[in-house]
Amino acid sequence: MSKQLLIRPQKTPLKGIISVPGDKSISHRAVMLASLAEGTSVIRRWLPAGDTLATLQIAQDLGVQINIDKRSDIAWDLTIEGRGLHGWQAPQPPLDCRNAGTGMRLLAGLLAGQSFPSVLDGTEQLRKRPMRRITDPLSEMGAKISSENGRAPLTISPSQLQGIAYRMNVASAQVKSAILLAGLYAAGETRVYQPGPARDHTERMLQAMGVPVRTEGSWITLPESPEGGWRLRPLDLTVPADPSSAAFPLVAAAIVPHSEITIAGVGLNETRTGILDMLQAMGAELTVHNEHVSGGEQLGDLTVSFSELHSANVSGNTVVRGIDELPVWAIATTQAAGVSQVSDAAELRVKEVDRISVLAGELQKLGVEIAESADGFSVAGPMRLFGGEVDSHDDHRLGMSLAVAGLVTHGLTLVHDAGCIADSFPGFVEMMQSLGANMAWVEQ
Ligand code: S3P
Repeated sequence: MSKQLLIRPQKTPLKGIISVPGDKSISHRAVMLASLAEGTSVIRRWLPAGDTLATLQIAQDLGVQINIDKRSDIAWDLTIEGRGLHGWQAPQPPLDCRNAGTGMRLLAGLLAGQSFPSVLDGTEQLRKRPMRRITDPLSEMGAKISSENGRAPLTISPSQLQGIAYRMNVASAQVKSAILLAGLYAAGETRVYQPGPARDHTERMLQAMGVPVRTEGSWITLPESPEGGWRLRPLDLTVPADPSSAAFPLVAAAIVPHSEITIAGVGLNETRTGILDMLQAMGAELTVHNEHVSGGEQLGDLTVSFSELHSANVSGNTVVRGIDELPVWAIATTQAAGVSQVSDAAELRVKEVDRISVLAGELQKLGVEIAESADGFSVAGPMRLFGGEVDSHDDHRLGMSLAVAGLVTHGLTLVHDAGCIADSFPGFVEMMQSLGANMAWVEQ
């Protein structure tokens, strides 16, 4: 059954104090690494979304015992019995990553170091995404990994891994993490060069578990393992609210007149806060308060209020630090005076879908003046959008971005194929409703 989301023009301000679900990147990593630890890990506020549930199921398929306390539909507490770095059991092929690129790429690094064969597969959408970016460096490390023309399914056979020094040509946290995680099983030191500040949750989590990963400039080094191999300490972690999910209500409140909202306990790791810089560059009224550190990650409460926005240009490191938020930022630019431009963002073309061309195509249906370039797009604002029928193309972040756009249209907006929103943000619609947003599910 395909789910559609109906949004009416928003005539009243958005108001309230909310929390959004846990961080997706951290939730994937926490399950993977806790299941390899020596002992029992406790993960609170874990994100039960489509992508991360696939990783949880895979950990269970690998023989890991996980006790689940379903605190709410958007936050689970997990108790994970780690089996040690070599304790996973051979699974029945294939392991199903569903739509999750992060799940597949990080697990490929870990599975390359196991003494049993495995197959990683996923949806048709995931089967279209480029995997050479991980199979090339993993093969250089000695992994036996084969793909279908650089695409999933990935078939992995046991082999002895060797550390390498690898220069990434794109700033990708998934590639960096796949190499570092394989490095846990490799002889010698493993080094990765990153051309920009890709998110560093893997490094932080490994450090918290007793693995002294170090970052010096653009190089990240996992040292040679001690005699007998690495032994990961269990995790005791509360997952911060996902800044990528917070971006949707943030942009909504920045563009709906007279709104003011606060989002509590949001992860503010520097490698993830590009969206705050992008909004501030447009003149958005944004304040961060109650800043603190928990589980090695920076957190804080964010308050945003409506203001008159002006155009801004985004490129370079800000793009890397806000890559997943560019689609929703594009919605803010439709309400900003002047032409806003994004460049250096070619990576958007290899996300769940080609987020440049699909975003441009769908926004044009709402009357947005958006022009594509090879590595970005430009939007002319400000304008009141038309309502209309648009499609998420089964991409959660595009679905939510289009829903936010629907708040500032003249007429009704119907987002087709919107069930995918639960891939990263269960409870998105209910959370927006709690702020007073005029949106509701329509089942067909
Ligand atoms: C992620 C890294 C980013 C990001 C994705 C999550 C991660 O992808 O877009 O949503 O958790 O490591 P890339 O590594 O491809 O840039």
